[in-house]
Parts: sequence; structure tokens; C-alpha cells
Amino acid sequence: MATHPTDSPSKRRKRKPALRKLVEFKGMSRLSLQQYRNDVKQLYDGPKGAVLAMASLVSLHEPLMGLMLRERKFDATRFHKILDVGSGAGQLLGHLIKTANPSADLIGCDLSHQMLRRARTRLNSKRPAYVTADLTQLPFDDNAFDCITCGWVIEHLHDPRPGLREFVRVLQPGGSILLLATEDTVAGAFTSRTWKCRTYNRRELNRICEEVGLPWREQLYFTKLHRFLKMGGILVEATKQADSNVPMELESRGARRCQS
Ligand SMILES: C[S@@+](CC[C@H](N)C(=O)[O-])C[C@H]1O[C@@H](n2cnc3c(N)ncnc32)[C@H](O)[C@@H]1O
Repeated sequence: MATHPTDSPSKRRKRKPALRKLVEFKGMSRLSLQQYRNDVKQLYDGPKGAVLAMASLVSLHEPLMGLMLRERKFDATRFHKILDVGSGAGQLLGHLIKTANPSADLIGCDLSHQMLRRARTRLNSKRPAYVTADLTQLPFDDNAFDCITCGWVIEHLHDPRPGLREFVRVLQPGGSILLLATEDTVAGAFTSRTWKCRTYNRRELNRICEEVGLPWREQLYFTKLHRFLKMGGILVEATKQADSNVPMELESRGARRCQS
């Protein structure tokens, strides 16, 4: 819906959310957590998952993530053990192979075993280990990683808190997370419809990250143009506070690894 130049600012503000609301995927709230998780797994196991790598290329997300890492907007060379959550076809993982410290351990994890198989084939590298897991129940020890990357995945959570708390549990105090999420814009609404997921309000996500002990250290943009136009989604580096309290029930979940 185009805004008319003579519309008052308040009218313009009202129209954008209306279009966004119309387009945005609403199916998540109608399903139980388990039903929705099964749907997501099926979605990525199937034909849509098969074209994910191509879609990331066409939307420029994949090359832009590479640029961000090469330009060290997020400096991956600092870390020794990196977990890439929701690796998909290995879009972010592929760039980590090239930009992270060559001696760093890289682990890719995903709900969809099929996506990890695609990532393994596509990346054709012996370096990452692949683990099939739900991000809300990661099969890793507390404080196991000094870095987590998670690109365009938390959109598949009704409530991001269980996932973010799990990140806090497996991150070392002072460890960093690169979190990329679809924003509640019109473009974001189309993405949510295509991939059956939700979007995030920047302020709300910031508040939730603070709440779970992952305060944002820096908001990132792919390029100066993205920064100027406030486009490209929510890209942040957050850090686990040294005194973050992991809830007792999340401690020592045991490292049950499901190698793909
Ligand atoms: C849009 S793709 C992101 C791929 C890649 N990270 C990137 O940056 O382009 C989302 C991936 O998250 C995975 N995923 C969705 N929900 C998940 C969950 N609860 N736990 C782990 N992975 C999940 C999907 O299987 C899919 O491969």
C-alpha cells in the first residue's frame, strides 16, 4: 500500500502495520509447540529446504553475511569453539570456515537432519562437526562455547526465551553471540509468510535479550546503505554477562550428541 504524500504522519504510521499484519504469517499461534516444530522440520526437510541455499544467494543474505564476517564487523577470529545454531544449508557456517581462526572448532547444529546433510555436501569441508538438535535443548555442556552464531532461526520460536536461555547456558561467561533475526517490517512480513515463521520487534528483542542475560554489545548493519535505510534485519552481537545466572533446571543437561 503506497503512502500518499499528503497523508499525515500518524496516518502513514498506521498504514504500514496494517499491510504488515495482513501479510505476516499467523499460523504459529494456532499450533502447539510440538506440532509447529514438526511442521518446521518438514518444511526444511522438503523442497523448500532444498532451495534454501539458492534463496539465500538470490536475496543476497548469504553474500552479505560473508561480507560482514570478512570486514570483521563481527570478528570471528577471536574464538576457539564456535557453535552455529540452525545451520541450514551451511550459509553462515561456510563463511565461518573461511574467516574463523583455522584452529577453532566449528560445530553446526540444526533441527533438520536433512538440512545438515545438504550443508555437509555443499560445504565439502572436513572441518565442521554436525549435530542434529533442537536449539531449545542443546546436547552440549554448560559453558562449552566461546561463540554462538545464529542466523535467521529464532523466528521459528513462539517465545525466544527458552532458546536464548539455552544459548546462555552453553556460552562461557564473556562469550559472544552473533544473532540475526527478521525484523517486523513489511519485507520481514513477506519473509515470515514464505518461511512460516514470526518476526521480531527490535526493541522487544533487545529487552528479552537483557532479561535472559545476553545484553546487546553492538547493533550491526551489512553495509552503510543498510544502516542508513535501517534495512537488512536485526543483526546484533550480544555477550553473556560474566555473572549470568543459569536457571538450575538448565544446568548440566548432559552432552548427548546426535551425530548426523
Ligand atoms: C532460514 S534457515 C537459516 C540458515 C542459516 N543459518 C542462514 O544463516 O542462512 C533456518 C534453519 O533453522 C532451523 N531450525 C528451525 N527451528 C529450529 C530449532 N528449534 N532448532 C534448531 N534449528 C532450527 C531450520 O531447520 C533451518 O535449517
